[in-house]
Formats: sequence, C-alpha cells, structure tokens
Amino acid sequence: MMARILQITDPHVVVPPRLVSGRLDTARLLQSAVARIKQDWARFAPIDIIVVTGDITDDGGEDSFRLFRSVMADLPVPVLVIPGNHDLREPLRACFGDAAFMPPTGRINWVHDLCDLRIVGLDTMIEGQGGGVVDSGTLEFLSDALAESGEKPVLIAMHHPPFASGIAFMDAIGLAGIPALAGVLSQAKAEVRIICGHVHGTIVGTVGGHVAISSAAVCSAFPADYRRDAPVGFTINPGGYMIHSWDGCFRSAAVSLGDADGPHPFQTPETA
Ligand SMILES: [Fe+2]
Repeated sequence: MMARILQITDPHVVVPPRLVSGRLDTARLLQSAVARIKQDWARFAPIDIIVVTGDITDDGGEDSFRLFRSVMADLPVPVLVIPGNHDLREPLRACFGDAAFMPPTGRINWVHDLCDLRIVGLDTMIEGQGGGVVDSGTLEFLSDALAESGEKPVLIAMHHPPFASGIAFMDAIGLAGIPALAGVLSQAKAEVRIICGHVHGTIVGTVGGHVAISSAAVCSAFPADYRRDAPVGFTINPGGYMIHSWDGCFRSAAVSLGDADGPHPFQTPETA
C-alpha cells in the first residue's frame, strides 16, 4: 500500500520577456524549480505522478501553457493539472487535449486512479474572477468519485483552499460553497486528504473532518499576516513544493526550493 505524489502549485508562467508584476521571471523560476526537483528526486523516489494545483499561467495564454508543459516534460512522470483563477479553461484544455485525464468539455474535473490511491481533481475556477466556487456539478462529480472509490483513500486536488487563510486580500477572493463541500466530504467512507494552492504558502486547515493543506508556490509568497490592514502584495522567497505519500495513512511534507547548508553530522571528533 504505497503511493507518492509530488505537488507543484502556482507557477504563473508567462512567455519571456514578459515578467509577472513587472519583476517575476516565472518561466525561469519554474525551470529552476524543475532543475531542483530533479536533484531532489532520489530522496523521494518512487514518485508516481505530479499534480499541479492551478495558476499554471499568469495570463491564460495557450503559448504560456505550452511553455509550462515543455518545462515540465523534463520530469520523468506524468503531470496532472487543474485550473486556477489566472488560467483560462479552453487554452488549458487545448494544451493538454491529448492527456487521458482531460475531459473534452465543461469543468476540468477528473479522476486518476493509482493502485492504492484515487486522485480527484476539482475545477473551482470562475473564469475572469479571483474567487472560486465548488458548483453543483463539481459537487456531484466529487460525490460520485468518493462513492466509487469505496475504501480506497482519496487525494483531492483543487486550486482554492476550502478554508479561510486569514490573509484578508486572499480571503476576499476565496472559495464559495465550502459548507456544501464539507457536507459531501463528511460522507466519505475512505480517508481523504485535500491539497490546494492559491494562497502561495503552506497552511493546514480542515474541511468536513479531513485535513486540507495549501502548498508554497513556485513563484512568490504571500506572508501570513492577520492584520486587517496587512500590506497587499507578494514577497520573493525561494518557494517550495510538497510530497504527499500514502502508506496506510497520509503524510505531507513541505520541501523548500531554497539552498540549505548541510546536512552536518550531529557529532564531530571534537564533540565526541
Ligand atoms: Fe497564484
């Protein structure tokens, strides 16, 4: 009983020489994240699949999606994607039209079964808006996907977290429909974990009795700041990604993309 998923979120890719917010070369940031993930790969292998939880592009352009896909092709396992609020559904569908998970029309909700784990992607995007929604069709899709999974554990991927972040400017563009989502999730027979992006930081919450986690982004960070007049903007940090494992229970590890010094031994000849 073993499954392992690598999660990347919010790369916000644009085609150079464009910069996001006049300062972020997001294509280069994704390239360096992918290079780092390749270096880290042996630490976490075997990894079954990569899930990217939205804001794949900053502008929704098909050329941006294609650039994203070509950078990700450097990694040795398939990539599953769901849209975020910065994406556009049809260019995303066109770019991944040959992928088995991609539905031909409608919301980009999908199921991908590994041997020991079911992964469910939910599309919370309202095109042209920052906030998201779990609409009735998506709820029905989730309800069916949970019922069919039986006792198999389920990892749900969605862009907007199903909890408030406490960061005012992000909660103003949060998720609608959380109580109904919680109702469906509370009926699940199997263990469920929810993974998401959007808030560009690692936050753990709960929904319907299950743990939900947002990951650090690849391109920028929104610092936790619960003041009502918290500065609206982003910081430039090394960013990170997550490794979600199932081996009889869920385990989620946040991995920094920053440089670390070490590991150093606990004991040296001088301290012995
Ligand atoms: Fe984002």
